[in-house]
Amino acid sequence: PRHIAIVPAAGSGSRMGAERPKQYIDLNQRPLLWHALETLTRVQRIEAVCVVLAPDDEWWPSFDWSALGDALRPMFVGGATRAHSVSNALAHMQSTMQVDDGDWVLVHDAARACLSVAQVDGLIDAVQDDPVGGLLAVPVADTLKRVHAGDGTLVGATVPRDGLWQAQTPQMFRYGLLRRALAHHDQVTDEAGAVEALGLRPRLVAADVTNFKVTYPQDLALAAQILQSRK
Ligand code: CTP
Ligand code: MG
Repeated sequence: PRHIAIVPAAGSGSRMGAERPKQYIDLNQRPLLWHALETLTRVQRIEAVCVVLAPDDEWWPSFDWSALGDALRPMFVGGATRAHSVSNALAHMQSTMQVDDGDWVLVHDAARACLSVAQVDGLIDAVQDDPVGGLLAVPVADTLKRVHAGDGTLVGATVPRDGLWQAQTPQMFRYGLLRRALAHHDQVTDEAGAVEALGLRPRLVAADVTNFKVTYPQDLALAAQILQSRK
């Protein structure tokens, strides 16, 4: 089977609160989105990187992406939610790139700029023979509190963190399965959630916290430092 990446990049970045969508803000002299795309295009087993953009995205054409090679496939088919953006990309791929149900799809958030080639290779190695698929994730490190139902500023309970993991991306599933899962369950915040809703069990592949999602302005300095340290 082939390996194809899908990078949802059609969000608005409301929590970042920048003057442009967060995928285009500057991170080490590149648009933020560049870094995840660069990593994915460097993974040998990945033959195409589909970038899901908002239909009215005017930022993408204003940058020169040619240094990333010819594996990039920009698609202006983003939807109202991340799940819709991915669904639309899966549908678009069928009519434009002869994808097979058995091909592997790796969905990766544009906002996880510090993804490394080694993390992706580790995921592919671990999931390659899995009947369902899997995702990068890290065990929860902090103690977790649930807020009080009556007063949202008080602790209601401590939630045991034993056995709890934080889901990251890439999330890797066969094209046919992922398309079916998202067609039935679009109220999910990740691909694994849709697959789980079919009664299946995706594999957790231990990653590390450097693959965090750049969300708030204060995340930018850390991401810049991690990327710089790898040069
Ligand atoms: N995304 C998308 N289509 C949407 C919403 C989100 O493709 N309708 C993408 C984002 O561009 C991002 C990834 O999904 O790469 C993860 O989403 P998130 O980090 O939440 O980004 P935003 O939704 O843009 O940010 P916010 O939630 O703060 O508005
Ligand atoms: Mg969002």
